[in-house]
Amino acid sequence: MDVEELKKQAGVAACEYVTSGMNVGLGTGSTVKYTILELGRRVRDEGLDIIGVPTSIATKNLAEAEGIPLAELDDLSHLDVVIDGTDEFDPGFQLIKGGGAALLREKIVAQASTKMIVVADERKQVECLGAFPLPIEVTPFALNTTRRAIVKALNCECTVRSEQGKPLVTDNGNHIVDAHTGPTIHDPVTTERNLLNIAGVVQVGLFNGMCEVVILASSDGITVLEKDD
Ligand code: A5P
Repeated sequence: MDVEELKKQAGVAACEYVTSGMNVGLGTGSTVKYTILELGRRVRDEGLDIIGVPTSIATKNLAEAEGIPLAELDDLSHLDVVIDGTDEFDPGFQLIKGGGAALLREKIVAQASTKMIVVADERKQVECLGAFPLPIEVTPFALNTTRRAIVKALNCECTVRSEQGKPLVTDNGNHIVDAHTGPTIHDPVTTERNLLNIAGVVQVGLFNGMCEVVILASSDGITVLEKDD
């Protein structure tokens, strides 16, 4: 089965967790796109009554086009669930996110949600995080000073993500440094803490202790993985 079909299966399966009356965080990326399309279909065809909170401008545009009613996170008392993609997840359901540069808003929304559901295809399941370069959102001020401090903290190559020959600018006006650690992040909590100690680091693409359910699409079909407490 091709990867796009797996993404679609995972994205659509997650919609089972959404019912009328919920406030729903809407993640970013090519897998959760299918969740948003299916939620939009249910809003239009079945009268599903939800309020969405997008985690990026791209998701806001997609959700608006699909007719999903949206609100600012600040204007809601709570979020029932966030559904989002991931770049990697390990056996403890720790995540690397930010491949789409949306990690800061994704993390704010995930922290505000009662439950986080991740949609993924089988390529995202790893034993140890880090084969996917770790995205770190940093301030434009002193970009290279911050990048060098990250190199020192992680002892690996760290590159400024670029777009059309210039540092990529996130929805928040910041930049992204990708840390090429290799699959060595055995203790993501300590790694996150060390990076957050660097003043120019705005946020780290490690999502620790947030995800409870992974909807995994593989050639064997859909598997719902639940975190053991
Ligand atoms: C966006 O910044 C990311 O965190 C995405 O959620 C993550 O990269 C997964 O994206 P795909 O579903 O496109 O692989």
